[in-house]
Amino acid sequence: MERISAIMDSFVASLDEGGEIENLYKSVPKGKRLRAKLILKIAKTSHEAPKLAAIIEMIHAASLLHDDVIDDANTRRGEESFNAKFGNKSAIMMGDILYSVAFSQLTKLPSSAAMCVSNAVALLSAGELMDVQLSDSFNTDKDKYMDMIYRKTASLIEASAKSAAILEGLNSEDFALYGKNLGIAFQIIDDVLDIVSDEKTLGKPALHDFKEGKVTLPYLYLYEKCSQKEREELKLLYKKELNAQDRVWIKEKMSRYGAIERSVKEAKELGYEALGAIEKYKIDGLKEIITQMIERDF
Ligand code: FPP
Ligand code: MG
Repeated sequence: MERISAIMDSFVASLDEGGEIENLYKSVPKGKRLRAKLILKIAKTSHEAPKLAAIIEMIHAASLLHDDVIDDANTRRGEESFNAKFGNKSAIMMGDILYSVAFSQLTKLPSSAAMCVSNAVALLSAGELMDVQLSDSFNTDKDKYMDMIYRKTASLIEASAKSAAILEGLNSEDFALYGKNLGIAFQIIDDVLDIVSDEKTLGKPALHDFKEGKVTLPYLYLYEKCSQKEREELKLLYKKELNAQDRVWIKEKMSRYGAIERSVKEAKELGYEALGAIEKYKIDGLKEIITQMIERDF
């Protein structure tokens, strides 16, 4: 992944060698580089694959800079977030810079791959808007949640796998399906971890989604199984700063109604579907990516 980071550094340097932007860019968190790993595993022989991986990681980093402003997040990956350190204005502009630099590099790739990635960024932005709007009031519609996480998270993972397949001359639809299901499963696990993990492991506050207005899959399943009285109690906790007793209440009900298990099972099934789409290609490491993603704890 050093190589991908070096390409990303060179993109930024091409804009502002030795300047303030290059300096500020050092504080943008690097992350797990899941998307880059996926691209390099699929497009093994393409000489354009590292560049595609760097472009997609840059778009992803830009989207997280904006997301932390939108979500008012003070931590990202266990550290103070960029917006908390440098303010919302710098975070937004740094996101815009990374996003634009990535797009200008994207124009140098084959147009079918470039089209696939640029379409995904439109979907990703629409997904984030949908996330914000769904957080206005208690959403009980699972289809809306699934559509939102497809756009917000899975679209860029789908585009990573699909565009890598395009560069490698493989069947892009098979890899698109792999990426889409992997991406949806990834976000479901993210939403589960918000409930079951602790702040230290997560690197961000735990049980935070509900407070932010996000009714994620485990909450949708919990709501579905709750009695009328429990539904009222759950709604009283919505968007509230939760105390220790509230936290115990939520976790106890989640466990009683199997809401976490049901969500994890759904993510695993999507993982198997993802694998089914590309099994015949016998590419090393694509199965491991799914396992790592489902069994992670942050
Ligand atoms: C994280 O979701 C957010 C995303 C996966 C997408 C964010 C997209 C945008 C802000 C729009 C696109 C903008 C640009 C510049 C391309 P989350 O809040 O559920 O996850 P988290 O817990 O990691 O914050
Ligand atoms: Mg967020």
